[in-house]
Amino acid sequence: MLDKINQIRQETAGFTPGSPALLEDFRLKYLSKKGLLNELFDEFKTIGNEQKREVGKSLNELKNELNELFEAGKRSLEGAEQASGMDLSLPGDPVAMGSRHPISLVLNEICDIFTRLGFTIADGPEVEDDWHVFSALNFPPDHPARDMQDTFFIEKNPDIVLRTHTSSVQVRVMEKTPPPIRMIMPGRVFRNEAISARSHCIFHQVEGLYIAPKVSFADLKQTLLAFAREMFGEHTEIRLRPSYFPFTEPSAEMDVSCSCGGKGCNLCKYTGWLEVLGCGMVDPNVLKNCNIDPEEYSGFAFGMGVERIALLKYQIKDIRMYFENDVRFLRQFTQAL
Ligand code: PHE
Repeated sequence: MLDKINQIRQETAGFTPGSPALLEDFRLKYLSKKGLLNELFDEFKTIGNEQKREVGKSLNELKNELNELFEAGKRSLEGAEQASGMDLSLPGDPVAMGSRHPISLVLNEICDIFTRLGFTIADGPEVEDDWHVFSALNFPPDHPARDMQDTFFIEKNPDIVLRTHTSSVQVRVMEKTPPPIRMIMPGRVFRNEAISARSHCIFHQVEGLYIAPKVSFADLKQTLLAFAREMFGEHTEIRLRPSYFPFTEPSAEMDVSCSCGGKGCNLCKYTGWLEVLGCGMVDPNVLKNCNIDPEEYSGFAFGMGVERIALLKYQIKDIRMYFENDVRFLRQFTQAL
């Protein structure tokens, strides 16, 4: 014990605090309830009687010294304060710290995962022409498939639309980039939908595109499995259900296993699966439309709604919450990521 007492003496010798915070550190470390001094007094109770006299004396001396150092430190700070005419005990002006929006958090996380898989990020316009949103992607004019993605048109020029998906950026990339292409397209999209708990007329997507010689459905599956496990946890399983999109063949919807394991929860409605994205092999016709030779290249594409992924990840019940700017909602994400 005497060694410990001496050590504290050495480390505190000549202590003069440069700031109130340092003085407080000193108090916490040595003099507070859980401080080193109290620790030593506790230890003192356990030593043999023959040592008590000598150790007790040193310990009391140490206590007095530490208290004196603290008081002296306090006086010196007060002196400095008065000399500078400043009251350092006044609270500062608080600066309200914002936090990232949950959609930004999830969007960044998705981009991060695909970046690590070797995808780069592509951007494009939100106000588009019919070719990039629909025609190049195999939606013929007046075809019922267009009803899947009803959009906002400009009255004076029906050729100009708000993009309904970021697949329009895929078309732009394919038109001007020779393969191999491995890119994701994050961004805001618009659909003419009634606003409800489940859908909104403005939302965000991340779509992805991989085009190279001999890209197969197995590549698609493995890439999406890797993504799902990064996003939802390492034990996540995926399931692909046949589906239809005009621009992919074959097409599928991907579900991820629900963390309840199918035992029963509100989120997956007792099915054990949650639908997260659409995907498929790029239709050869779409490649042709973008001047890529389908004999030489094949590719896969996928697209997901960021609001939906965030909804599942944070178990948010109503998509409208994202756009209401209620700080009580937004504040809950200050700790996330
Ligand atoms: N563009 C589709 C949508 O918005 C999603 C998708 C992208 C599906 C790529 C398949 C392949 O619904």
